[in-house]
Amino acid sequence: MNPINIAIDGYSSCGKSTLAQDLAKSLNYTYIDSGAMYRAVTLYILNNDLVKGDAVFDVKKALSDINIEFRFINGKNITYLNGSNVEDDIRRMYVSENVSVVAAIPEVRRKLVEHQQYLGRNKSVVMDGRDIGTVVFPDAELKIFVTADIEIRTKRRYEELMAKGITVSFEEIKNNLHERDFIDSTREDSPLFQAEDAILIDNTNLSIEEQFNKVLALAKGKISKGSSS
Ligand code: DC
Repeated sequence: MNPINIAIDGYSSCGKSTLAQDLAKSLNYTYIDSGAMYRAVTLYILNNDLVKGDAVFDVKKALSDINIEFRFINGKNITYLNGSNVEDDIRRMYVSENVSVVAAIPEVRRKLVEHQQYLGRNKSVVMDGRDIGTVVFPDAELKIFVTADIEIRTKRRYEELMAKGITVSFEEIKNNLHERDFIDSTREDSPLFQAEDAILIDNTNLSIEEQFNKVLALAKGKISKGSSS
């Protein structure tokens, strides 16, 4: 049995993180939510008034001041920014509305990709995001590209936010998903696209369990064959 890295990419709110977390738990791997890292940088920028009009300024200062880590608490990975738990704050709408712009800044990507590659250096990692199979782990043994119908994705995100007591309209969420997909897949630096060797999974009509079983079988196949397959 050889440990592998599993890269899960796809559009916003496609259920990537649920899939990645379940896989990591089942395989006893480490789950890393790369989107949480972009969200943490965005939160820092917004909270420190580092935005002027449409432009983010002083990115260098922000990046040198930031320390992002994950702490595994009660079975969940919690995002910490400079020692504070920001897990709830990074999911708020004002962060979602700005994160794609911040994630398109090359300096931000360079720093976070370096950190992500370091976290995956010893394998046994499941990481989800937008450029994991194309840029972060181009040699990942298993690459999955997840997609789903926009209405279903909006409904899932709506229910997730309602459950957390965050009130947002259906339309607001749908517009945000459209906008993020557009920015994420058209930006110049590492845009979102399906790697040639990634397996496409459309989960519009799949339950969480059906999707999980499919990908778990693929992962077990790769792990038993080792990295030479
Ligand atoms: O996965 P998420 O929705 O929490 O990600 C938030 C944003 O971060 C997303 O709109 C695009 C960006 N992102 C990215 O550019 N690259 C990644 N590897 C992960 C996220």
